[in-house]
Order: sequence, then C-alpha cells, then structure tokens
Amino acid sequence: MKQSTSLSLAAPSALHGELTLPGDKSLSHRAALFAALAAGESTIDRFLVSGVTRALLNALTALKVPWHLDQNRLTVKSKGFQQFVAPEDPVYCGNSATTIRLVAGALAAAGIPCTLDGSEGLRKRPMTRITDPLVQMGVPIVTTNGCAPMHIKPRSAAAPLNAIDYTLPVASAQVKSCLILAALAANGTCTFREPGPSRDHTERMLRSMGASIRTPAAGVVEVDPLNVPLTPLKLTLPGDISSAAFLLVATAIVPGSEIIIRDVGINPTRTGILDVLREMGASITISNERLEAGEPVGNIHLVAAPLHAITVKGDTVVRMIDEFPIFAIAAAAATGVTHVHEAEELRYKETDRIAILCKELRKLGLTIDEYTDGFSIQGRTLRGGIANACGDHRLAMSLALAGLISPEPVTVEHAEIYHESFPSFTSTLEMLGVRASEKPLIH
Ligand code: S3P
Repeated sequence: MKQSTSLSLAAPSALHGELTLPGDKSLSHRAALFAALAAGESTIDRFLVSGVTRALLNALTALKVPWHLDQNRLTVKSKGFQQFVAPEDPVYCGNSATTIRLVAGALAAAGIPCTLDGSEGLRKRPMTRITDPLVQMGVPIVTTNGCAPMHIKPRSAAAPLNAIDYTLPVASAQVKSCLILAALAANGTCTFREPGPSRDHTERMLRSMGASIRTPAAGVVEVDPLNVPLTPLKLTLPGDISSAAFLLVATAIVPGSEIIIRDVGINPTRTGILDVLREMGASITISNERLEAGEPVGNIHLVAAPLHAITVKGDTVVRMIDEFPIFAIAAAAATGVTHVHEAEELRYKETDRIAILCKELRKLGLTIDEYTDGFSIQGRTLRGGIANACGDHRLAMSLALAGLISPEPVTVEHAEIYHESFPSFTSTLEMLGVRASEKPLIH
C-alpha cells in the first residue's frame, strides 16, 4: 500500500519541452493479454508499467503464464490459451476494469473456471454489461449483484460457445473486447453492434495476430472463430494519448507555452481531445504520421493560445471518454460557458465522474452545474483550495493541474492514485518547468 500523499503544482512563466511518454494503457493491457493467448514468445516494448497494468500481469501469473519485465520491455512466454491453468484462488484485478472485463472474455474462450475480483472501487463497476451477452453465448458466469466478484463455472473447453448477434447498449471498448475474445471460441461468426465509435485497439491487434475480424460498417464488428493459432507479438507501443492529454492541457492553459510530444498513439477513436482543444483555440499540429503495428502514431505539437468555451456531445464524447476530468480544467481556463452533454457513461468510470468532478471542482471555487448527462463550466472562476482525488487517478492529475491557473494554490489529497495510469506524471511535468510538491498526507 502506497503512502497517501498530497500534491500541489505551480506553473512556471511558461511550459516548454519536447518529450516521449510511456506506452498506451489500453494497448499495454491488450498486448500483455493477447500475448498470453498466442503460443510462443512475445516481446512488447514501451509497455506501460503502472498500477492497472500490474493488475493484468498479476492475472497472467494466476493463469501460470510466464512473463518478464526488463524496464519497459515485457516478454511473455505462453503455451497458448488452450493451456491456461485454472487458478485456485480468485484472480485479483486491483482497480482495473479493463483487466477484469478482458480477462473474463479470454477465460470464456479458454473454458477456464475462475473467480475474478478486485478492489473496493472495482467491485462497484457494472459487470452485467459483459455477463448478459456472455451468458447468451453459453458462458456459465455469474456476478455478485451485478458486480465483481464474478464466478466463471467449469464448462467443457471443447464445446464451442454460441455465435450471437448482439447490440451493445452503450459504446464500450471493454465490453466489445470481452465479447470479441469470447467469439474466438464460438461455433460461427459473431456480430457486435455498438452505438458509438469506441476504441478499436482489440480489433487491430488481434487482426495483426491472424484473427479474422471485419468491420463491414461503422459500429459493426464481425468475428470468425479462430481456425489458426494466433501469432505472438513483436511490437513497440505508442505513447498514451490519454496521458498526453494532461500535458497538452497544462501547456494550453499557460500563456506562452509550447510542447512537442513524440510517438503518441493517434488512433481516431482516441483523438477527441485534440479536436476539442483545437475548437477551443489551441494550435495543434501533427507530424511524422505513420502506422506502427496497425496503430496510427505521430508527434503532437501544441502552442498555447487563448481558449474559449465550446459544447461537447455526440461521438466526440466516446472519442475522449477518459479525458473529461482534464477537459474540465481546459474549460475552467476558457472564456465563456462550456457544456458537456450525452456523457452519462462518465457516471460508470473509476468514480461517478460527473458528480465527483462537480463536487471537487466546486471546492476550488469553480462555477460548475451538474446534469444527468454532463455538466457546464463557467470559465475563469477557479479560486484554489483543497480537493480530494476520491480514488480516481485521472481526477487526481486534473485537479492538481487546476493549480496552474488558480489565483490561490491547489492541494490534492490522496493524489498518489495517479500511479495507477501515469506514474511519471510529476517528473514529466517537472521536465516542462512545472514545480511539483508531493508530501505525505498526515491526518
Ligand atoms: C478502455 C475503455 C474505456 C476507457 C478505459 C480503457 C479500454 O472504458 O474508459 O479507461 O482499454 O478498453 P469503456 O469500455 O468502459 O468505455
């Protein structure tokens, strides 16, 4: 257990720098798990080593799949998912919803009985969104009142699962990925339909490993049962655009600042934050665009300019689903009233990100109104003060960055949670000139 800390950030006269970031969180999860599905040795460079990806590695250990980390190079030596060993104890997935949902899909395909559990926070996240369709496919899986712990009961691994045509009630890459993994062991082609463009990393990576996956129309994914073994992975992951978002907003809100972040994943299902920052007035250019291991990658160059309020809704919400806490800080720096609508899904993240964001930002003086499906922010009303990270890594980093533009300092209590996704958050900001003060929290 990490010592609880408080975090305060102070802006230099302007932020300047050129840097690279640790690997993408979503891709790190997928690369580690999919490597375990393939027989042979996979090597994954620029793997994100953080709390939530450790949860996935912990699951591999429980399944007796050997892996080794040498700095940021992950090596996985697997005999393939048909050889997974049923864990005796519950698999602890920590705070990681991606781990629990994707591992559930992989175990469904493997026909392995198992209990999947996690932290107090993870036990509050909805799991019927995966278990309802998995049950339709014939997976004997039950939840505890709709949440973890989830129990997958024994079934004959030789018996294929039912092929289904399923429409996801919400756009969710975790749900879609869980079902795609299960579909690899179905008795025919499965079709999954979703109401918005959730990230498509699973489709791209599994395809690169030999799986037959098609996207015949926007929001439709067809998955054939696996008839050839998946090939092991040899890849270097791009930097995480969701971590880049904190640095981009930090740069955008301090006049005179400029940053270049090299080798960032710019998959269009993830770049909503670039679109909205541009719309608000920031100057953003992308260079050296290329495809690496099936994923679009490029360098992002941002120059600060005065920001103005905008409205965010529709598909953009899905394309920046993890970026609303830091987007709220950009809105706080902008002139005018920013509105977010059609974003109710934010209530099912690490915290209820609508309610908690409103509550904690109000403590810092911000004028923010809560709606069922979003919020609105009156820019330039931040004052400063003490806020709480509430067990949410992205909230911790976003609230701390409010300190760059508030007239009085901002202190974020229980800020250590940022290690879940971006352990080098403060050291990276220091490279840009930001002063970070992290102190043990004594209550
Ligand atoms: C993720 C998908 C998103 C996102 C999460 C990572 C993934 O969740 O919020 O941080 O790696 O698939 P949902 O699928 O629940 O929208």
